[in-house]
Amino acid sequence: MIGIIGAMQIEVEGIIAAMTETKTERFCSTPFTCGKLSGVPVVVARCGAGKVNAAMCAAVMIQRFAPKLIISTGVAGGIGEGVKIGDLVIATHAVQYDYDTTAIGEPKAFVPLGGSGKETVELPTCETYNAILAKYAAAIYSGVHRGVIATGDKFVADPAVCEALKAEFGAVSCEMETGSIAHVCLAGETPFCGLRAISDNANDDGKVDFMTFAKDSAEKCITLLKAAAEALYTA
Ligand code: ADE
Repeated sequence: MIGIIGAMQIEVEGIIAAMTETKTERFCSTPFTCGKLSGVPVVVARCGAGKVNAAMCAAVMIQRFAPKLIISTGVAGGIGEGVKIGDLVIATHAVQYDYDTTAIGEPKAFVPLGGSGKETVELPTCETYNAILAKYAAAIYSGVHRGVIATGDKFVADPAVCEALKAEFGAVSCEMETGSIAHVCLAGETPFCGLRAISDNANDDGKVDFMTFAKDSAEKCITLLKAAAEALYTA
């Protein structure tokens, strides 16, 4: 099956509404809904905001459902002039920008992976599935970007933070889950994609824009996932 994780109700409810044969179970206080989306088996989880919630959800999903692919979906803040509200971002990789052991000589965002030798700053995504998402996205939307998603336990509403994330990591968007799901998928040897729609520009207007645009932006990811589900499943 395909695993889909969103933090908020608005990021998953449209997917669950489009599913057939649904069954919902809770593990670690997190609801997981199994069923079929566009005819293919999926499990959709609402993890709650933040890196720990998202990591816990991804670990449970891998253990309980063994999905062939996990997609982190939902909304994000756009970084850089060209990344506008309503645009889509398909992650080339993700970083956990607030993981910081620079004081003991390690690179910023260099996350450990249980001594596995897979320690890295750039948490990978799967190009096979990225290409499918990009193809279907291009067919229905303009404003599709491929770039770095920067993840941290902070709602960013500060242009200076955006500038730093762009300068340090080449980030085109920021949010609060994708990097930690990517981390768990790397550790758990599960292919991973990050798909986000921009709800705000993580600046002084960020709060108001998020409140105004999050639902519509979240719907864009949902529409794309419905369109691409079968191709992702059969790839
Ligand atoms: N999700 C959507 N917008 C965001 C922002 N500006 N910061 C963090 N997470 C977000």
